[in-house]
Amino acid sequence: MAQAVLLSVLLLFGCSSFPRLHTLKINQRPIIGILAQETLDADLLRYGKTYIAAPYVKYLESAGCRVVPVRLNLTNDEYEKIFHSINGIIFPGGSSDLKTSAFAKAAKKFYELALKAFDAGDYFPIWGTCLGLQLLSVLTAGKNLLTNTDSENIALPLNLTNAAASSKMFQKFPPDVYHALSSEPLTGNFHDFSISVKAFLEDEKLSKFYSILSTNNDRKGVEFVSTMEARKNFHHFKNLKEEEATLIYNYSPRYVPTSSYIQVYFF
Ligand SMILES: *[C@@H]1O[C@H](CO)[C@@H](O)[C@H](O)[C@H]1NC(C)=O
Ligand SMILES: *[C@@H]1O[C@H](CO)[C@@H](O)[C@H](O)[C@H]1NC(C)=O
Repeated sequence: MAQAVLLSVLLLFGCSSFPRLHTLKINQRPIIGILAQETLDADLLRYGKTYIAAPYVKYLESAGCRVVPVRLNLTNDEYEKIFHSINGIIFPGGSSDLKTSAFAKAAKKFYELALKAFDAGDYFPIWGTCLGLQLLSVLTAGKNLLTNTDSENIALPLNLTNAAASSKMFQKFPPDVYHALSSEPLTGNFHDFSISVKAFLEDEKLSKFYSILSTNNDRKGVEFVSTMEARKNFHHFKNLKEEEATLIYNYSPRYVPTSSYIQVYFF
């Protein structure tokens, strides 16, 4: 499905009751999962049935994280085990059906586990970029509310909302970066579908669950949504051996000149 939204939405599971137990602890070794997607390009199938684009790995590494690939079609028990071992997950961009793909099904599992963890006083951040953002909106709304937008291959500054400055995501941005983000075209957009502000506000589930931190207008003036926040958690692998065996560094990315991602991990 779809070409996917760009900007990222970080799931906000609530902000009023950060668990006291955790307030003083700092996780120095965050490990983040990236959900794999099915390889759709027939030419690339010989490398593997699923893939993770290397930029997502690099992006997390540049923020000091290490990465675990989250494979598709695992059992519920296996997903639960991973969930309790990692500190958050990214639903990346790409091209997969938002309801029927193995990608969407695995994502739903993590989404439900995250909600359950939140109810129990824990936090499990989920970040969705592009298709990942669309997927989060479908998971929350229970239906596909995307609309066509003319926002393919366009760089834009963010129209930050009033909620942005006090959000988890933006509140610690250095003032110059915060300003640059809202005044210079620093975000790339490669999507034919978006969640319009109108559709967002009209859907009670979406507007209750997320607050909008930034919006943008497409080339035709349709206003669409981007962004939110996450909390730390202290999930960890049972031991170092299991941690090391699960990290993405057990695999090698391939140089795929024909892919828009250039470097890709296949599984
Ligand atoms: C996942 O399972 C579905 C249904 O059995 C199958 O069609 C699909 O090929 C599997 N995908 C992967 C990547 O194993
Ligand atoms: C920001 O919002 C204004 C007012 O709706 C709109 O005209 C403008 O195009 C938006 N800017 C961007 C970069 O999307």
